Amino acid sequence: MADGAQDSKELSDASGSKTGDGDKKETSWLQNFMVSALHISATPPEKLLPEVTIEGVAKYILSDKCNNVVTIAGAGISTSAGIPDFRSPESGLYHNLQKYNLPDPQAIFAIDYFKENPEPFFMLAKELFPGHFKPTPCHYFIKMLHDKGKLLRHYTQNIDTLERVSGLDGDKLVEAHGTFHTSHCLICGKEFTQDWIKDKIFTDTVPKCDQPDCDGVVKPDIVFFGEKLPDRFAECVTDDMNKCDMLIVMGTSLVVQPFASLTARVPVTTPRLYINLEKGMTGMDPFAALFFGGGGFDFDGENNYRDVFKESTCDDGCYALAGLLGWGPELKKLVATEHAKIDKEITKEASKATAKKTPLKMQSKTSKKKSP
Ligand code: OAD
Ligand code: ZN
Repeated sequence: MADGAQDSKELSDASGSKTGDGDKKETSWLQNFMVSALHISATPPEKLLPEVTIEGVAKYILSDKCNNVVTIAGAGISTSAGIPDFRSPESGLYHNLQKYNLPDPQAIFAIDYFKENPEPFFMLAKELFPGHFKPTPCHYFIKMLHDKGKLLRHYTQNIDTLERVSGLDGDKLVEAHGTFHTSHCLICGKEFTQDWIKDKIFTDTVPKCDQPDCDGVVKPDIVFFGEKLPDRFAECVTDDMNKCDMLIVMGTSLVVQPFASLTARVPVTTPRLYINLEKGMTGMDPFAALFFGGGGFDFDGENNYRDVFKESTCDDGCYALAGLLGWGPELKKLVATEHAKIDKEITKEASKATAKKTPLKMQSKTSKKKSP
């Protein structure tokens, strides 16, 4: 997993060290880590799950003890919407970038490469641009956790904005790898809107700043390798992880820091559920996980008291958990209603676009024909 190690190194500079919360919280994080990684503890941590299974997780979530669920997610929560993840063999984005002639696949998201060659990123951005995709059942499950008063925060590595489209409040969301929502000129720093940059990207133009005497490339505010994470990440992460009484990790390989280490930042008693197609490196011990990525879970350990792995798609895993919580029919209904709303919107926009393209004469002829 050489690329995982590289990811970790690249992004770790921009993460934990910037929290600025002083020695007290760092110490509590370190204590947590000592207990979970090195098993240095006078007494074994309290077991909060009635049983270390997804059924146990559901019972615990429904109990009074669990009021601050943190969800952390990656590209796997959006693949069923038609957006590829990064590292899956065959379908992953990093395996399908040959046409861009990159020195290595991750160069497409590397700031130094982008400054010299922005074109490949903008070609790809056209394919990935938010607006074409519908949130998945997994996104609506996260929204539902919020509606039920259980969600403390959702951390996403995704830039597809599907959490926002699902209706999740902005204050419940940390977009740790940024978003297409705004863009900035790399030279003068002027801010541009999503519509402005969309127009450039969809007309195959590298977006350039419109300020007099500035010809800087305008880059969407998504975090590239070699860039720091948004301030909001550092502002929320320490308190959220300390308060977290249930961690749900979904659709991420956990090879990119700081995400890989978030799993080690919750209290040692906090149960952790991982829903993913495969375990990958996530069973690596927490000490190694800190350096190489991986969740540091103890799924198969004989003393495992809190880690549950659900091997499934994120959608199936969320439906299974929703069913156990007694929220199954409600989740299905929410997905159907919201998808129908989006479909209606898409149809409306498509007919507007067709009307725009149709010459006025034609439009009046067509409408004459239709009128009785
Ligand atoms: P990855 O592609 O590394 O991992 C996606 C994980 O989701 C894999 O473990 C897949 O097996 C799993 N998966 C795929 N589809 C799934 C499904 N339908 N249900 C359940 N699991 C599924 O993507 P991330 O972990 O998100 O960073 O990658 C993290 C970061 O690496 C990205 O944010 C991006 C990338 O380089 C930047 O661009 C800065
Ligand atoms: Zn500028």
